[in-house]
Amino acid sequence: MNFTHIIAEKINQTLENTFDLDKLEKLVEKPKDLNRGDYAFPTFSLAAKFHEAPQKIALKIADEIDRTNFANVKAVGPYVNFFIQRVEFTNQLLKEILLNDDFGRNNQGAGKKIVIDMSSPNIAKPMSMGHLRSTVIGEAISKIAKANGYQTIKINFLGDWGTQFGLMIAAYKLWGDDKLINKNPVDELVKLYVKINKESETDKSLKDSGRAWFKKLEDGDPEAVKLWNWFKSVSLKEFQEVYDRLGVSFDSMNGEAFYNDKMEPVVKMLASKGLLTESQGAEIVDLPNLLPKDNYPIAMIKRSDGATQYITRDLASAIYRHDAYDFAKSLYVVGAEQKDHFDQMKAILKLAGDDWADDIEHIGFGMITMNGKKMSTRKGNIVPLVDVLDTARQLAAEQISEKNPGLENADHVAEEVGAGAVVFNDLQKDRNLSIDFNLEKIVQFEGDTGPYVQYTHARAMSILRKSGQQAILNTGVTFVDEEAWPIVSRLSAYPEMIKRAWQLREPSIVAKYLLSLARDFNSYYAHTKILVNNEKMQSRLSLVQGVCSVLKSGLNLLGVSAPNQM
Ligand code: ARG
Repeated sequence: MNFTHIIAEKINQTLENTFDLDKLEKLVEKPKDLNRGDYAFPTFSLAAKFHEAPQKIALKIADEIDRTNFANVKAVGPYVNFFIQRVEFTNQLLKEILLNDDFGRNNQGAGKKIVIDMSSPNIAKPMSMGHLRSTVIGEAISKIAKANGYQTIKINFLGDWGTQFGLMIAAYKLWGDDKLINKNPVDELVKLYVKINKESETDKSLKDSGRAWFKKLEDGDPEAVKLWNWFKSVSLKEFQEVYDRLGVSFDSMNGEAFYNDKMEPVVKMLASKGLLTESQGAEIVDLPNLLPKDNYPIAMIKRSDGATQYITRDLASAIYRHDAYDFAKSLYVVGAEQKDHFDQMKAILKLAGDDWADDIEHIGFGMITMNGKKMSTRKGNIVPLVDVLDTARQLAAEQISEKNPGLENADHVAEEVGAGAVVFNDLQKDRNLSIDFNLEKIVQFEGDTGPYVQYTHARAMSILRKSGQQAILNTGVTFVDEEAWPIVSRLSAYPEMIKRAWQLREPSIVAKYLLSLARDFNSYYAHTKILVNNEKMQSRLSLVQGVCSVLKSGLNLLGVSAPNQM
C-alpha cells in the first residue's frame, strides 16, 4: 500500500479534486516524531488558492476525509496528521507478502525488452575486477528489470577480435607449449603476449609477423582460425567457472568477432550519410567538427591499414541489437572510463538519423581498489577471480564452523556466503563510486555486509523452525508491537523501492534497503521475545515470516542466495 498516494488521493477528494495528485503526493511528509502521526500533510501551499488560513484548510480536510485505513486523522495547526490503522494495515500487507510469490513486482515493462551488455571480458586475458563488477551489476539490473515486468536479454560481448590476436598467434608459433597452455590457459597466453610485445621492441619483424597472422585470421586461414578458436575456448572455460559460481548466465555470447561481416555495411552507411572523413589514410568521424559544442573526441572508424576499431564494432553491434531485439532500452554496463566511447557511439548514430540511439544508456561504474590500492593487470599484480571466490568461501567457512559447528552441507553454505559477500560488496554503494575490497571485512557476519543480511534471514528462519509451526496467516495479525512498526513500514516500501532501483538502474538501492530491513529486524528481535506462550506469538511469527520472505526476495534480486541456515 502506497500511503503517500492514498493520502494525496483522499485529500484531493475533500478539495473537489482541484489539485494535481503528483504535487499533493510530494507534499506528504513522514514525521520523525510518531506522535505527529505516521504521515503529515502541511496545508500552507493550498492557502493562496482557497483564500483561507492553512489552519482552516487543515480542519476542513480532517473533517471531511474518508478515514478508511486510518485509526485517526486530526488537524494540528496547519498540519493534518494521519495515524494508520496498524493492525488492519499489517494484516493486509502480510497477506500480500505471504500469499503471493511476487510481492513487490510490477508490470510496467510488460511486452518490452531490455538488452544488457555485461561482463564482456577479453579472451586470452584474465577476467578483471572491472569485468566482475560489470557481471554482477548487469545481473542485478537484469533481475530488477524483470521485477518491473521487462524481458531482458543479457549479452556477453566478448573481446575476441583485434590485431592483438595476430600477435598472439605469432608468439604461439615461436614459443607456444600446448601442455602448459592446456594446464593454465590464460596465464600462459598472457605470458606469450607479454613476451612478444617485449621482444618486438628490438625485433621489428615480430610486429610484421603479427600483422600477417591477423590478416590470415581475417581471411579465414584454417590454421589461424583453429588457433584463435582454441584460445577462445580455453579462455571461455576459465570464465565459465566464475559465471557458474556467481550463478550468472547469458542469452547471447556474440562478441566482437561476430561483427566481422557486419562492419562494412556500417562504414558504407556512414559514408553515404556524409559522415566519414579521410584523414592521413584513415577513415574517421570528425565529431569535434560535426558537433563543436559537445566536446567529443574524433572517432577512428578504420585505420590507414584498413583495420576496423572497437567503435566500429560497437556501432555494428548497436545496430544489430536494434534490428534483432527491437529493444525499449539498450544498456551497456561498462566502467566509467569508457564514457567517451559510448557518448561517441550514440552521437554518431544520432548523426546518422538513428533516433532510437536515445534509448542507449551507458551504465557506468567506479573502480575497485584492493585494500586501498589500485589493482592493475598490466603490472602483473592480478588476483584471479577464482582465487578471490575461494578465499571468500574459506573465510565464510571459518565463521560458520565457529557459529554453527554442526551445520549440514556447510561447504555449500560457505560457497553461498562467500560469493554473496563478494557480490553484495560490489552492489551496496552507488555504482559510480569506487569501492574498496577488503575480503576479511566483507565476509563478516556483522556490519554492512551481504553475510549480515544473509545471517539475519537465517536467524529469522530459525525462529520459524523453532516455533514448530508455519505462521498461520488466516488467523491474521491481531496485534502489532510498537517496536515492530518500523519493520512493517519498511516492508510496505518494498514495491516502491523496486521501481526506484529500476528507474535509476541502481542495485545499491536494493542493497541499502536490505541492510535497513535487517537492522530494523535485529533491533526488534533484540528487545522482543517472539516465541512466547501467549496470543501475541502468532502475530509476531507472521511478521517474522514476512521479513524472511522480503529479505530472500531482495537478496535474489541482487543475485545473492539466502541460505535457510548458516
Ligand atoms: N571488452 C571490453 C573491455 O574489456 C568491454 C566491452 C564492453 N562492451 C561493449 N559493447 N563495448 O574493455
